[in-house]
Amino acid sequence: MQLREVRLLVNGESRTLAVSRHATLLAVLRNDFGLNGPKYGCGRGACGACTVLVDGIAARSCVIPAVAIGQRPITTLEGLATVGPDGQRQPHPVQQAFIDAQAAQCGYCLNGMIMSTVALLSRNPSPSAQQIRDALAGNLCRCGTHLEILEAVARAAAPL
Ligand code: FES
Repeated sequence: MQLREVRLLVNGESRTLAVSRHATLLAVLRNDFGLNGPKYGCGRGACGACTVLVDGIAARSCVIPAVAIGQRPITTLEGLATVGPDGQRQPHPVQQAFIDAQAAQCGYCLNGMIMSTVALLSRNPSPSAQQIRDALAGNLCRCGTHLEILEAVARAAAPL
């Protein structure tokens, strides 16, 4: 297997790795960076479980070759939290809204729901109910917490 050296900037950390040209960004994030926020669901770009931000845009990491990222910064679920004045990690407002709305059942889809919401609110801080539905339409939840998820996005949009 032929390996190529890539330099990836993930959650502010820059690392150089040797990866197969077929390795997906999802595989590299999970296996090399140890970041398990992005999930493997369909592996075909259809469910949204693997969503990360590539230069601030929600992207399906299961279908993007790691060698194609170039200099664009990657943000994963793990990169959303910040450190508060007390030195403790603080959830991102979108994460807190999902907690407050109890928008989880099995939780498998939440990475994609949250990352897609962060991307949505960064380009549209006050989305309409329809715009929220449209933005999350490609993120599948099989448990049935759709109403709580929509409520969480609405809560996250309110204080921003
Ligand atoms: Fe990437 Fe389903 S695992 S979209």
